[in-house]
Amino acid sequence: MRNLNHETITEAVLESQGQTANPRMKQIMDSLVRHLHDFAREVRLTEDEWFKGIAFLTRCGHITDDKRQEFILLSDVLGLSMLTVAMNNDKPAQCTESTVFGPFHVQGAPKYELGADIANGARGIPCLVRGTVRGPDGSPVPNARMDVWQSDQDGRYDVQYADIDHAQARGVLHADAQGRYHFRSILAVPYAIPHDGPVGELLDATGRHPWRPAHLHFMIEAPGYETLITHVFRGDDAYLDSDAVFGVRQSLIADWKAQADGTYLVEYDFVLAPVAMGAM
Ligand code: BEZ
Ligand code: FE
Repeated sequence: MRNLNHETITEAVLESQGQTANPRMKQIMDSLVRHLHDFAREVRLTEDEWFKGIAFLTRCGHITDDKRQEFILLSDVLGLSMLTVAMNNDKPAQCTESTVFGPFHVQGAPKYELGADIANGARGIPCLVRGTVRGPDGSPVPNARMDVWQSDQDGRYDVQYADIDHAQARGVLHADAQGRYHFRSILAVPYAIPHDGPVGELLDATGRHPWRPAHLHFMIEAPGYETLITHVFRGDDAYLDSDAVFGVRQSLIADWKAQADGTYLVEYDFVLAPVAMGAM
Protein backbone atom coordinates (compact mmCIF):
# COMPACT_ATOMS: atom_id res chain seq x y z
CA MET A 1 0.00 0.00 0.00
CA ARG A 2 3.02 2.32 -0.22
CA ASN A 3 4.79 3.92 -3.12
CA LEU A 4 1.84 3.20 -5.41
CA ASN A 5 2.35 4.30 -8.98
CA HIS A 6 -0.11 4.99 -11.79
CA GLU A 7 -0.23 1.28 -12.59
CA THR A 8 -0.27 -0.38 -9.16
CA ILE A 9 -2.85 1.97 -7.63
CA THR A 10 -5.73 0.19 -9.40
CA GLU A 11 -5.03 -3.16 -7.69
CA ALA A 12 -4.63 -1.34 -4.35
CA VAL A 13 -8.08 0.26 -4.62
CA LEU A 14 -9.65 -3.06 -5.68
CA GLU A 15 -8.03 -4.78 -2.73
CA SER A 16 -9.23 -2.07 -0.33
CA GLN A 17 -12.86 -2.76 -1.31
CA GLY A 18 -12.40 -6.53 -1.36
CA GLN A 19 -14.63 -6.98 1.69
CA THR A 20 -17.70 -5.39 0.06
CA ALA A 21 -20.52 -7.51 1.49
CA ASN A 22 -23.01 -7.20 -1.35
CA PRO A 23 -21.67 -9.18 -4.35
CA ARG A 24 -23.46 -7.01 -6.92
CA MET A 25 -22.12 -3.87 -5.26
CA LYS A 26 -18.63 -5.41 -5.41
CA GLN A 27 -18.99 -6.23 -9.10
CA ILE A 28 -20.15 -2.70 -9.93
CA MET A 29 -17.53 -0.90 -7.79
CA ASP A 30 -14.65 -3.08 -9.01
CA SER A 31 -15.62 -2.48 -12.63
CA LEU A 32 -16.13 1.24 -12.03
CA VAL A 33 -12.66 1.62 -10.51
CA ARG A 34 -11.00 -0.36 -13.32
CA HIS A 35 -12.72 1.64 -16.07
CA LEU A 36 -12.22 4.98 -14.34
CA HIS A 37 -8.50 4.35 -13.88
CA ASP A 38 -8.10 3.01 -17.43
CA PHE A 39 -9.90 6.11 -18.71
CA ALA A 40 -7.58 8.46 -16.80
CA ARG A 41 -4.52 6.55 -18.04
CA GLU A 42 -5.78 6.42 -21.62
CA VAL A 43 -6.27 10.19 -21.89
CA ARG A 44 -3.35 10.92 -19.49
CA LEU A 45 -5.66 13.14 -17.46
CA THR A 46 -3.92 16.31 -16.23
CA GLU A 47 -4.54 17.79 -12.78
CA ASP A 48 -6.13 20.82 -14.40
CA GLU A 49 -8.52 18.61 -16.38
CA TRP A 50 -9.33 16.59 -13.27
CA PHE A 51 -10.22 19.80 -11.47
CA LYS A 52 -12.37 21.01 -14.40
CA GLY A 53 -14.27 17.71 -14.22
CA ILE A 54 -14.86 18.13 -10.49
CA ALA A 55 -16.02 21.73 -11.03
CA PHE A 56 -18.42 20.53 -13.76
CA LEU A 57 -19.99 17.90 -11.50
CA THR A 58 -20.21 20.48 -8.70
CA ARG A 59 -22.17 22.80 -11.01
CA CYS A 60 -24.47 19.88 -11.89
CA GLY A 61 -25.12 19.43 -8.18
CA HIS A 62 -25.74 23.11 -7.53
CA ILE A 63 -28.33 23.50 -10.31
CA THR A 64 -30.21 20.32 -9.31
CA ASP A 65 -33.36 20.66 -7.21
CA ASP A 66 -36.77 18.95 -7.06
CA LYS A 67 -37.71 20.43 -10.48
CA ARG A 68 -34.34 20.20 -12.26
CA GLN A 69 -32.24 17.04 -12.37
CA GLU A 70 -28.97 17.88 -14.11
CA PHE A 71 -27.37 14.48 -13.43
CA ILE A 72 -30.18 12.63 -15.26
CA LEU A 73 -29.83 15.14 -18.08
CA LEU A 74 -26.09 14.40 -18.17
CA SER A 75 -26.82 10.67 -18.32
CA ASP A 76 -29.32 11.35 -21.12
CA VAL A 77 -26.95 13.35 -23.35
CA LEU A 78 -24.13 10.83 -22.78
CA GLY A 79 -26.44 8.08 -24.04
CA LEU A 80 -26.28 6.25 -20.70
CA SER A 81 -30.04 6.52 -20.05
CA MET A 82 -30.94 5.06 -23.45
CA LEU A 83 -28.25 2.39 -23.14
CA THR A 84 -29.77 1.30 -19.83
CA VAL A 85 -33.29 1.33 -21.31
CA ALA A 86 -32.12 -0.71 -24.32
CA MET A 87 -30.36 -3.34 -22.16
CA ASN A 88 -33.27 -3.83 -19.79
CA ASN A 89 -36.26 -3.82 -22.12
CA ASP A 90 -35.78 -6.68 -24.53
CA LYS A 91 -39.28 -7.54 -25.69
CA PRO A 92 -40.82 -10.04 -28.09
CA ALA A 93 -40.42 -8.77 -31.66
CA GLN A 94 -43.92 -7.39 -32.23
CA CYS A 95 -44.13 -5.47 -28.94
CA THR A 96 -43.90 -1.68 -28.72
CA GLU A 97 -40.37 -0.58 -27.87
CA SER A 98 -39.41 1.47 -24.83
CA THR A 99 -37.55 4.74 -24.76
CA VAL A 100 -36.30 7.26 -22.19
CA PHE A 101 -38.59 8.38 -19.38
CA GLY A 102 -37.29 11.95 -19.28
CA PRO A 103 -37.54 14.39 -16.37
CA PHE A 104 -41.00 15.85 -17.01
CA HIS A 105 -43.34 13.09 -15.83
CA VAL A 106 -45.47 14.08 -12.83
CA GLN A 107 -47.01 11.56 -10.41
CA GLY A 108 -50.72 12.07 -9.84
CA ALA A 109 -51.60 13.80 -13.13
CA PRO A 110 -55.36 14.52 -13.50
CA LYS A 111 -57.65 11.69 -14.55
CA TYR A 112 -59.70 12.11 -17.72
CA GLU A 113 -62.52 10.24 -19.45
CA LEU A 114 -61.80 8.84 -22.91
CA GLY A 115 -62.30 11.59 -25.49
CA ALA A 116 -61.38 14.40 -23.10
CA ASP A 117 -59.05 17.27 -24.01
CA ILE A 118 -55.97 16.88 -21.82
CA ALA A 119 -54.42 20.14 -23.09
CA ASN A 120 -56.34 21.91 -20.31
CA GLY A 121 -55.27 25.33 -21.59
CA ALA A 122 -51.81 24.41 -22.95
CA ARG A 123 -51.18 26.37 -26.14
CA GLY A 124 -50.91 24.45 -29.40
CA ILE A 125 -52.68 23.20 -32.51
CA PRO A 126 -55.45 20.77 -31.47
CA CYS A 127 -54.64 17.13 -32.13
CA LEU A 128 -56.71 13.97 -31.77
CA VAL A 129 -54.77 10.92 -30.57
CA ARG A 130 -56.26 7.45 -30.90
CA GLY A 131 -55.46 3.78 -31.27
CA THR A 132 -55.53 0.48 -29.44
CA VAL A 133 -53.65 -1.35 -26.72
CA ARG A 134 -53.17 -5.03 -27.51
CA GLY A 135 -51.14 -8.07 -26.53
CA PRO A 136 -48.64 -9.72 -28.89
CA ASP A 137 -51.32 -12.15 -30.11
CA GLY A 138 -53.48 -9.22 -31.25
CA SER A 139 -56.07 -9.60 -28.50
CA PRO A 140 -57.17 -6.34 -26.86
CA VAL A 141 -55.75 -5.42 -23.47
CA PRO A 142 -58.84 -4.14 -21.63
CA ASN A 143 -58.81 -0.91 -19.62
CA ALA A 144 -55.04 -0.22 -19.71
CA ARG A 145 -54.00 2.80 -17.65
CA MET A 146 -52.41 5.39 -19.94
CA ASP A 147 -50.37 8.22 -18.44
CA VAL A 148 -49.65 10.80 -21.16
CA TRP A 149 -47.54 13.97 -21.13
CA GLN A 150 -46.12 16.43 -23.64
CA SER A 151 -44.82 19.98 -24.11
CA ASP A 152 -46.82 22.92 -25.42
CA GLN A 153 -46.31 24.70 -28.75
CA ASP A 154 -43.34 26.61 -27.30
CA GLY A 155 -41.65 23.33 -26.42
CA ARG A 156 -42.14 23.68 -22.68
CA TYR A 157 -43.80 21.34 -20.20
CA ASP A 158 -46.24 22.81 -17.65
CA VAL A 159 -43.73 22.15 -14.83
CA GLN A 160 -41.19 24.43 -16.56
CA TYR A 161 -43.41 27.49 -16.06
CA ALA A 162 -42.99 29.27 -12.74
CA ASP A 163 -46.51 30.79 -13.08
CA ILE A 164 -48.45 27.59 -13.96
CA ASP A 165 -49.51 25.55 -10.96
CA HIS A 166 -51.95 23.13 -12.60
CA ALA A 167 -51.49 20.24 -15.01
CA GLN A 168 -51.51 21.09 -18.70
CA ALA A 169 -50.98 18.68 -21.60
CA ARG A 170 -50.76 15.72 -19.25
CA GLY A 171 -53.27 13.27 -17.84
CA VAL A 172 -54.25 9.70 -17.04
CA LEU A 173 -56.88 7.83 -19.08
CA HIS A 174 -58.06 4.25 -19.30
CA ALA A 175 -58.50 2.46 -22.60
CA ASP A 176 -61.92 0.81 -22.99
CA ALA A 177 -62.77 -2.90 -22.63
CA GLN A 178 -61.78 -3.48 -26.28
CA GLY A 179 -58.39 -1.80 -25.76
CA ARG A 180 -59.39 1.33 -27.68
CA TYR A 181 -58.33 4.80 -26.57
CA HIS A 182 -58.82 8.34 -27.86
CA PHE A 183 -58.18 11.77 -26.42
CA ARG A 184 -57.55 15.32 -27.53
CA SER A 185 -54.36 17.23 -26.90
CA ILE A 186 -52.07 19.46 -28.96
CA LEU A 187 -49.62 18.90 -31.78
CA ALA A 188 -46.20 17.86 -30.43
CA VAL A 189 -43.29 20.09 -31.50
CA PRO A 190 -39.52 19.68 -31.29
CA TYR A 191 -37.98 21.29 -28.22
CA ALA A 192 -34.59 21.93 -26.67
CA ILE A 193 -33.78 20.09 -23.46
CA PRO A 194 -32.73 22.42 -20.61
CA HIS A 195 -29.36 23.78 -21.79
CA ASP A 196 -28.79 26.83 -19.61
CA GLY A 197 -26.63 24.81 -17.19
CA PRO A 198 -23.51 22.63 -17.23
CA VAL A 199 -25.06 20.06 -19.59
CA GLY A 200 -25.70 22.89 -22.05
CA GLU A 201 -22.02 23.91 -21.77
CA LEU A 202 -21.02 20.33 -22.50
CA LEU A 203 -23.27 20.17 -25.58
CA ASP A 204 -21.77 23.46 -26.80
CA ALA A 205 -18.20 22.34 -26.21
CA THR A 206 -18.80 19.09 -28.11
CA GLY A 207 -20.50 20.77 -31.07
CA ARG A 208 -23.94 19.36 -30.30
CA HIS A 209 -27.44 20.86 -30.33
CA PRO A 210 -29.94 20.38 -27.48
CA TRP A 211 -33.00 19.47 -29.59
CA ARG A 212 -35.37 16.53 -29.24
CA PRO A 213 -37.71 15.57 -32.09
CA ALA A 214 -41.43 16.17 -31.44
CA HIS A 215 -42.98 13.41 -29.33
CA LEU A 216 -45.80 12.45 -27.01
CA HIS A 217 -44.86 10.51 -23.84
CA PHE A 218 -46.78 7.42 -22.71
CA MET A 219 -46.57 5.18 -19.68
CA ILE A 220 -48.99 2.28 -20.09
CA GLU A 221 -49.85 -0.20 -17.36
CA ALA A 222 -52.13 -3.24 -17.34
CA PRO A 223 -52.25 -6.32 -15.08
CA GLY A 224 -50.22 -9.21 -16.48
CA TYR A 225 -48.16 -6.93 -18.78
CA GLU A 226 -44.83 -5.15 -18.45
CA THR A 227 -45.23 -1.43 -17.87
CA LEU A 228 -44.39 0.33 -21.14
CA ILE A 229 -42.57 3.68 -21.01
CA THR A 230 -42.28 5.13 -24.47
CA HIS A 231 -42.92 8.02 -26.89
CA VAL A 232 -44.72 8.41 -30.19
CA PHE A 233 -42.59 10.58 -32.49
CA ARG A 234 -43.66 12.78 -35.42
CA GLY A 235 -42.49 11.35 -38.72
CA ASP A 236 -41.84 14.75 -40.33
CA ASP A 237 -39.42 16.00 -37.66
CA ALA A 238 -36.00 17.34 -38.67
CA TYR A 239 -34.36 16.03 -35.47
CA LEU A 240 -35.30 12.35 -35.76
CA ASP A 241 -31.70 11.49 -36.66
CA SER A 242 -30.01 13.74 -34.10
CA ASP A 243 -32.09 13.43 -30.92
CA ALA A 244 -30.00 15.00 -28.11
CA VAL A 245 -30.82 12.01 -25.86
CA PHE A 246 -30.69 9.20 -28.49
CA GLY A 247 -34.27 8.04 -27.81
CA VAL A 248 -35.65 7.57 -31.34
CA ARG A 249 -36.69 4.14 -32.56
CA GLN A 250 -38.08 3.64 -36.04
CA SER A 251 -41.07 1.65 -34.73
CA LEU A 252 -42.16 4.61 -32.57
CA ILE A 253 -42.48 7.06 -35.47
CA ALA A 254 -46.02 7.85 -36.61
CA ASP A 255 -47.61 10.00 -39.28
CA TRP A 256 -49.29 12.98 -37.60
CA LYS A 257 -51.86 13.91 -40.24
CA ALA A 258 -53.02 17.49 -40.88
CA GLN A 259 -56.84 17.55 -41.16
CA ALA A 260 -58.91 19.79 -43.42
CA ASP A 261 -60.01 21.90 -40.42
CA GLY A 262 -56.43 22.73 -39.40
CA THR A 263 -56.28 20.22 -36.54
CA TYR A 264 -54.13 17.07 -36.50
CA LEU A 265 -54.75 13.35 -36.07
CA VAL A 266 -52.27 10.72 -34.92
CA GLU A 267 -53.11 7.06 -34.65
CA TYR A 268 -50.86 4.62 -32.83
CA ASP A 269 -51.45 1.04 -31.69
CA PHE A 270 -49.46 -0.18 -28.68
CA VAL A 271 -48.51 -3.81 -28.13
CA LEU A 272 -47.69 -4.69 -24.51
CA ALA A 273 -45.30 -7.47 -23.54
CA PRO A 274 -46.79 -10.04 -21.14
CA VAL A 275 -44.97 -10.30 -17.80
CA ALA A 276 -42.42 -13.09 -18.18
CA MET A 277 -43.48 -16.42 -16.67
CA GLY A 278 -41.84 -16.78 -13.28
CA ALA A 279 -41.85 -13.02 -12.75
CA MET A 280 -45.63 -12.97 -12.21
C1 BEZ B 1 -38.18 14.40 -22.47
O1 BEZ B 1 -38.49 13.84 -23.50
O2 BEZ B 1 -39.08 14.90 -21.82
C2 BEZ B 1 -36.73 14.50 -22.08
C3 BEZ B 1 -35.93 13.39 -22.10
C4 BEZ B 1 -34.60 13.50 -21.74
C5 BEZ B 1 -34.07 14.73 -21.36
C6 BEZ B 1 -34.90 15.86 -21.36
C7 BEZ B 1 -36.23 15.74 -21.73
FE1 FE C 1 -40.34 14.99 -23.79
